[in-house]
Amino acid sequence: MEITQNKISEKSINSKKTYKKLGFTYLETAEIVVALKQLLANYQIHYHKLRSFHWNVEGPDFFELHEAFEQDYNTTKENIDEIAERIRVFGLKPLSDLKETIELSEIKETKKSISGLEMVREILKDFEILHDKMLDVVNAALGTGDNATEQMISEFMGELEKRNWMYTSWCK
Ligand SMILES: [Fe+2]
Repeated sequence: MEITQNKISEKSINSKKTYKKLGFTYLETAEIVVALKQLLANYQIHYHKLRSFHWNVEGPDFFELHEAFEQDYNTTKENIDEIAERIRVFGLKPLSDLKETIELSEIKETKKSISGLEMVREILKDFEILHDKMLDVVNAALGTGDNATEQMISEFMGELEKRNWMYTSWCK
């Protein structure tokens, strides 16, 4: 008897297309989304710079840096996608307007042509900003108990710290 009742209630739930709610409310994710958007804007400008450095680097370190920048923009591209999709998971939309992205980003474009060493220093400066923005997301996620965002960004931080060590060693 009990089994039958359960079956009926399961069927009626399915027919109404009501699903168990996952995740958090808009209010709970507001701070996380603000931090994710800031990280995303900075990451997008950083990506653009890496592409430009990859194309425009010159000098005896050309092959080394050309490849290193490519490796970084590929990682950056994947991380940008993960961040934007995390914002969608929360039911909101990531910034798609380039003008707003530039305004929101603390990382700025480099105007003039610069040497390979200056490019690496520029990347290291960007890393500091990105690391701060990532920390903001982690803190907001921890405050809400959002383990998935915290874990995702912590992984990005680990990658960034490793590349920071490599570029710093290269500069010495
Ligand atoms: Fe290329």
